[in-house]
Amino acid sequence: MSAPAFLPFARPVIDEATIARVADVIRSNWIASGPNVLAFEQALSDYCGGRPVRSLTSATVAMEVALQLCGIGPGDEVITPAQTFFAGANMITKVGARPVFVDCDPVTRNLDLEQAAAAITPATRAILPTHFLAPLDHARLYALASAHGLRVIEDAALAIGSRYPDGVAVGARGDLVAFSFHPNKNITTIEGGALVVGDAREAARVEALRFHGIHRLPDGTRDVDVAGGKYNLSDVSAAIGVAQMAQLEGFVARRRMLAREYLRLWSAEPACVLPPDVEGHSWNMFAVLLPLERLTITRQEFVGLMQAQGIGVGISYEACHLATLYRNQGWRAGQFPVTERIARETVSLPLFAAMTEADVARVCAAVAAILAAHAK
Ligand SMILES: Cc1ncc(COP(=O)(O)O)c(C=O)c1O
Repeated sequence: MSAPAFLPFARPVIDEATIARVADVIRSNWIASGPNVLAFEQALSDYCGGRPVRSLTSATVAMEVALQLCGIGPGDEVITPAQTFFAGANMITKVGARPVFVDCDPVTRNLDLEQAAAAITPATRAILPTHFLAPLDHARLYALASAHGLRVIEDAALAIGSRYPDGVAVGARGDLVAFSFHPNKNITTIEGGALVVGDAREAARVEALRFHGIHRLPDGTRDVDVAGGKYNLSDVSAAIGVAQMAQLEGFVARRRMLAREYLRLWSAEPACVLPPDVEGHSWNMFAVLLPLERLTITRQEFVGLMQAQGIGVGISYEACHLATLYRNQGWRAGQFPVTERIARETVSLPLFAAMTEADVARVCAAVAAILAAHAK
């Protein structure tokens, strides 16, 4: 019998109709930003309850532009979780401000809002939290922000398709919201991102910040009043995005079904600490904690054994404050025990919309066999 195909931990789902659409866009010769970018932004705005949305080349630059929109720079502090991807803290640093890390909730892995409140100083200008294993607690987050006059930049890189408990989509309420359309995310534009903003003035500012700071003068010439970047999405990517937006709800429903299959198979004997089953969550990843204290193998060895069985495993995320850049700013091991435990023990098991229930069963069986074979 031939070995089963390699099962990656994440994979985009791009159908033949979308590929044909991309070919049409390329043949049209209008391949940089054009009508598909406008159509994609309209679809995103419709999804976000009519709020203005501008596409960009990644969630990372969406957060950079968001920080610039807020006028955040040297001397300012931004509160952000230590248990997230490096992008948010890096962009805070890049605009010259200081990331102030706080720990996360052990179950949802979202920013611990009590610790966030305690970290506010006169220099705090914004909170930059990540929607991780559940939508953020919107009411508490925004109550805290408005009590202190802070902006909020939601890192919703993982969360397109997530809904709050009242059914409102992540992105449809709040301050600034950054989405990612990297191939590992719930929908993809190859690389890409978007920023949801408050009004037309902010949207115009994003347009300038993503394209050299240029605006047109009445005589048809161009002027620049801010050192903008070059972060506009191509029409080829946007055409993929338009097709993916039409499939978002189906992709998310499928992710939910597969996640619940993992939870069902492990309902009696969870092999690991399982993620919470939160209504409305869009399940970008199925992240568990390994019981390393009961094993004779390291996490790296576990990942290698899974790979040997043809199953990919991801790690999301390292402890951000312990990266060299942030250690050099004075952050130390021991400051955020929940983050540091997750960083040591977490693995993301395969989850993407094109997976089957049989794939889930294969992963569960492989994990259970490895843990049983290497129990202390
Ligand atoms: C939580 C989080 N934020 C931001 C990003 C960055 O997204 P992008 O690759 O679109 O810049 C990622 C990417 O993995 C992420 O996981």
